[in-house]
Amino acid sequence: MPETFRLDFTVNGQARSLDTHPMARLLDVLREGLGLTGTKEGCGEGECGACSVLLDGRVVNSCLIPAVQAQGAEVVTVEGLAAGGGLSPMQDAFLAHNAAQCGFCTPGMLIAAEDLVRRCPAPDKEQVREGLAGNLCRCTGYSKIVDAVQAVARKEGQP
Ligand code: FES
Ligand code: FES
Repeated sequence: MPETFRLDFTVNGQARSLDTHPMARLLDVLREGLGLTGTKEGCGEGECGACSVLLDGRVVNSCLIPAVQAQGAEVVTVEGLAAGGGLSPMQDAFLAHNAAQCGFCTPGMLIAAEDLVRRCPAPDKEQVREGLAGNLCRCTGYSKIVDAVQAVARKEGQP
């Protein structure tokens, strides 16, 4: 395997290109290579979801994805959720429901929550808990997070 390769991919809607090791973690490419530090590292081994991003529309743990797997892919990080510099409806709802305390899990939670609401527009509490089961929070007890996700789903489900 070569020492480095040129990674060409799309991040938050922008074409990006950088030289990196093929087995570098996508997490490090995003944080250190591109300065997108919203994506966090908790466990580094696929257990906590703090590093969640969307890769071609699917939630992945970026600590487990080698850079080479992102070649030509579309990646969305937490920085890409809000359009036009404001907050996304999900980010607004997390704020309004006090769904973040230390905030370390929040970027990953937001990515997973956006994905959940897209796949399941009107989730009940159990479905929200299940949809976010890959994301651990050591602070909130989860109920505020579930409330925030349901509030967005209710709003977006309105005619
Ligand atoms: S840092 Fe990737 S799952 Fe925990
Ligand atoms: S708000 Fe602290 S880990 Fe979730």
